[in-house]
Amino acid sequence: MQQDFLPLNGTDYIEFYCGNAKQSSLFYQNCFGYELIAYAGPETGVMDRSSYVLKQDKVRIVLTTALHQDNPISEHVKKHGDGVKVLALWVDDATKSYEETVKRGAQSVEAPKTSSDEHGEVVTASIQTYGETIHTFVERKNYRGAFLPGFEARKSLIDVTPVGLKYVDHCVGNVGWGEMNTWVEFYERTMGFNLLITFDDKDISTDYTALMSKVVSNGNGYVKFPINEPAEGKKKSQIEEYIDFYNGAGVQHIAIATDDILHTVSELRKRGVEFLMVPNTYYDDLLDRVGEIDEDLQPLKDLNILVDRDDEGYLLQIFTKPVQDRPTVFYEIIQRKGAKSFGKGNFKALFEAIEREQALRGNL
Ligand code: FE2
Repeated sequence: MQQDFLPLNGTDYIEFYCGNAKQSSLFYQNCFGYELIAYAGPETGVMDRSSYVLKQDKVRIVLTTALHQDNPISEHVKKHGDGVKVLALWVDDATKSYEETVKRGAQSVEAPKTSSDEHGEVVTASIQTYGETIHTFVERKNYRGAFLPGFEARKSLIDVTPVGLKYVDHCVGNVGWGEMNTWVEFYERTMGFNLLITFDDKDISTDYTALMSKVVSNGNGYVKFPINEPAEGKKKSQIEEYIDFYNGAGVQHIAIATDDILHTVSELRKRGVEFLMVPNTYYDDLLDRVGEIDEDLQPLKDLNILVDRDDEGYLLQIFTKPVQDRPTVFYEIIQRKGAKSFGKGNFKALFEAIEREQALRGNL
């Protein structure tokens, strides 16, 4: 087998550029049960921005806001609204990761740089991906601080109760018309990813809207990036709605794994997280479709959790509504019970739910 030229240990962090990181950080603490672990800003010598680092098990989210108008972060927020800027990847050698990918055609954003403080040193380097999104390689084997040099350890001011979020399962990108294959090839060629699954518009279309999707994965399967593009339908594709409001390609959803989706979703609902609803009829023939499952049907129905099966097992999943006012980024909560797929059997029910929301916004 060919040697993996870009070994990845997983997702290091996901950074959002947002309008008000201070308030967003409380949303993530109160509603999603993340712990505040670090902060950078004027008080720590970073004069142009404030960043809050939140953590739950292996998931790390960074929320960053610019402090002045003449700033690329402000420009990003003006154009895209709150959105994902950085999908950071945890590596053992950031310099090599950068060199190998740039050599294969990746566009450089930042050459490898070492930063250090009293807790050790970190090497980071960044390359461009779809839209204005970037991948930052993070090498932290010689670092023991709270997050990165420049950040200081912080604690939540409130009692935070985790909801059972464990790790990032996959991150989905929406790209423009006809761009899906370009980005699939980018991940194959420059990052050594493999094409895992293809969904065409026959798999993913309702009466109205359509999209196409391909999933790429790195060698060890720790990092999976489905890429969607809009397809022609009777009405506007949900991907097109995203592109219109995000003003280009960007991260559509982040799927986070849990070991106990009933607990996680009932906690999230109690705390005010909004989810897409499928009609109750979805559950009428669910067990005929997916066969025997460990969970009772009624609590799944009460919480509106979806189920799908593939050759290797089944999965439970649910999708939030967008977590900002623009109809852009949302979350998926997923519990895998053997299944390695993405819930194809739920696409139709799900997309009809998305269309109902699109119609309410006047964008269908
Ligand atoms: Fe997903």
